[in-house]
Amino acid sequence: MTGTHAEQPQRLQHLLTLAGLPQSTLVGLLERAADLRVPPGEPVRQHDLLGGKTVVNLFFEPSTRTRASFELAARRLGAEVLTLDMAFSSTAKGESPLDTFYTLQAMNTDLFVVRHREPGVPQTLAQHALPQVHVVSAGEAHVSHPTQGLLDVFTIRQHKKNFDGLAVAIIGDIRYSRVARSAVQALRMLGTRDIRYAGPAELLPEDLEGERFTNPDKAIAGADVVMMLRIQKERMQAGLFPDEHDYFRRYGLDAARLKLAKRDAIVMHPGPMNRGVEIAPEVADGPQSVIREQVTNGVAVRMAVLATLLQR
Ligand code: CP
Repeated sequence: MTGTHAEQPQRLQHLLTLAGLPQSTLVGLLERAADLRVPPGEPVRQHDLLGGKTVVNLFFEPSTRTRASFELAARRLGAEVLTLDMAFSSTAKGESPLDTFYTLQAMNTDLFVVRHREPGVPQTLAQHALPQVHVVSAGEAHVSHPTQGLLDVFTIRQHKKNFDGLAVAIIGDIRYSRVARSAVQALRMLGTRDIRYAGPAELLPEDLEGERFTNPDKAIAGADVVMMLRIQKERMQAGLFPDEHDYFRRYGLDAARLKLAKRDAIVMHPGPMNRGVEIAPEVADGPQSVIREQVTNGVAVRMAVLATLLQR
């Protein structure tokens, strides 16, 4: 099977996007993650669910959170992990992602975690995977970041009872954001209809359904969830990025702006954060912030994905 998703969780072959994933599969992954989650400060549990399996991390783009959490997730499930250092791999000599994949697949590996700045790379690798080999996207250009979408809704579910009545404000560079696309796919699948976007007009999405504002105050007013996004300078043409101080004044989340949201609103950010550009430190570290919870939950969600794909 080379398709992206199958009908049942146990038949999931690859995880390349949340688009088209059956709702039961998404909920099954969230429930499995809840079983595997270890709260901060508690001793981690070592499982042997994936003994004998090898997970390969292929990050052709930089990462801290996603790479580290996939590596910890695989190790905590008992898998062997190979994380290629791209700067010292044959990628630096011009080897293509597909040839790198073929090479490591020939070493009897089982699952590839792939991040690439070009759209379509995880799909191409999945199309060339042996039947027993799995591919998981760890971030595909501006298109998709499925495990980030899962950990975002997992985190929201810890704080909010229902998805259908939620108002979610997504603020910042949405046009270039794979995080926003995957979060919106997961939220819509779980029943959230009220999704608002705010940012500079040139960074607002054309392909996402929802209300758009250039004034973030209008999007944040009455919101249950405020998701701040990083300005992705690496995906913009040089010179397009506005002045950072001006950006913060117009779009950044400070304590005064957050007061427009509901009193029990939560503040999210996928990281890495530009403090003082899209979010004020007192908000990032404040009582409504769930940013570090997102990181904790990222390990559990990735454990759930690896266990679901690799356990037959
Ligand atoms: N949220 C996220 O993808 O962070 P990293 O780039 O550090 O993996």
